[in-house]
Amino acid sequence: MNGSMTPAEIVEWLDKHVIGQEKAKRSVAIALRNRYRRKKAPPDIRQEIYPSNLIMMGPTGVGKTEIAKRLASLTGAPFVKVEATKYTETGYVGRDVESMIRSLVQHAVNMEAEREKEVRSGKISKRVNEKLVAALRRAGYDSIPADELVRMVENGSLDEVRIEIQLPLEFPGLEIFPMVPGRGFDEQPMNSLKKVLDGMFGERRKKAAVTVEKAREKLVEDETRRILEGGDYVSRGLALAREEGILFIDEIDKIIGTGESKGPEVSRSGVQRDLLPIVEGCTVPTKYGPVKTDHILFIAAGAFHGSSPSDLIPELQGRFPMRVELDPLSEEDLFRVFTEPENSLLRQYTALLAADGVDLELTPEAARILTRTASHLNTETEDIGARRLRPVLTYLLDEQLFGAPDLVRGTVRITGTMAEKILLDLDSKREDGNYIL
Ligand SMILES: Nc1ncnc2c1ncn2[C@@H]1O[C@H](COP(=O)(O)OP(=O)(O)OP(=O)(O)O)[C@@H](O)[C@H]1O
Ligand SMILES: [Mg+2]
Repeated sequence: MNGSMTPAEIVEWLDKHVIGQEKAKRSVAIALRNRYRRKKAPPDIRQEIYPSNLIMMGPTGVGKTEIAKRLASLTGAPFVKVEATKYTETGYVGRDVESMIRSLVQHAVNMEAEREKEVRSGKISKRVNEKLVAALRRAGYDSIPADELVRMVENGSLDEVRIEIQLPLEFPGLEIFPMVPGRGFDEQPMNSLKKVLDGMFGERRKKAAVTVEKAREKLVEDETRRILEGGDYVSRGLALAREEGILFIDEIDKIIGTGESKGPEVSRSGVQRDLLPIVEGCTVPTKYGPVKTDHILFIAAGAFHGSSPSDLIPELQGRFPMRVELDPLSEEDLFRVFTEPENSLLRQYTALLAADGVDLELTPEAARILTRTASHLNTETEDIGARRLRPVLTYLLDEQLFGAPDLVRGTVRITGTMAEKILLDLDSKREDGNYIL
């Protein structure tokens, strides 16, 4: 997949995973395509076009995060979800908003490192095997042909044999020095003392006597590190974050102040103000190098109970030109969420039980009764959207989930009548004032 999917194609793909929420799907598709369009626009006009950042509003458990996550997996884009409430204004103790960008870059670099490892895995294992064969030869296995030795290493029959190999000298403790205060462990600059020492004296290596099994593990580690050191995955990671990154800022409504300018209120609008340059486009320093945030797509989400995006500071509102509301889920929606998506909850639990040899068969009537109960509980107690399905389902399947594989085996068919009986029980428990779900 790539960034050039049309909005209609994006929506079609999202439909496989997210039920309803047509408006939201359309909006994210447009936002994503606009990023592509903006990149293609001539440079002088491009600067004038605001990014199509988007705010999703809607109650809990209706698919806000789900849409954003699916969007990211569709495009292969690096995606990071953060909570607005976790940040504090620059200058105060806590996490500054720029660390969102650092996390995104870290994630993108990791993605590229993984890709690099995959591409080069053949080369890595070839080098490891050569070293193992040489070490085995030195240990007396000199009459067996190399490819036979490789086969023996791979099928584990030499695991216990002790050999001598060269490994890089490790300096425990040096990696964490020097730490930059106020940054997380993953955000430290890369120039650790070890690197400096390696640069000055060349990397030190020492001989170690270990089993073949251990040697293989260590050599794979070492070769992977060497291959990554030489690769340009870091610059590709930076480019990926810059061009394709999606930053999902959850709970954006929680950093709306109430208007009084005391205590936490100051800090909340301070966080909003800190967000401005990042969302608009600026350069953020990271341990891998500076990254421009111009083309990063920002999707914010919040319940906006008793507030609205117009309560955000005006400058920030302007940075999120697209708004979309998500709808509460009806009983019919819940039924579809439960049964339709490729990895629906029903399929997930069927797979869980199948792992223990139970072949679960839930009739459509049983599924109906389950979703009716979930919907009923949502209206009677608190509306938590599709999140209600899982506790109701675990209640329904309690006997099987506990009983498999020793007490319950083979095909289990749950009919509407059975579901009704079990879940009626749940409803009566609730009426005892015992809100278990
Ligand atoms: N419209 C939907 N289609 C498919 N699955 C859904 C839908 N809405 C919710 N779900 C499922 O319910 C769970 C919760 O949804 P999600 O995380 O998207 O909620 P949310 O809207 O972000 O809520 P919150 O405001 O609490 O963060 C997810 O596991 C998701 O798969
Ligand atoms: Mg969410």
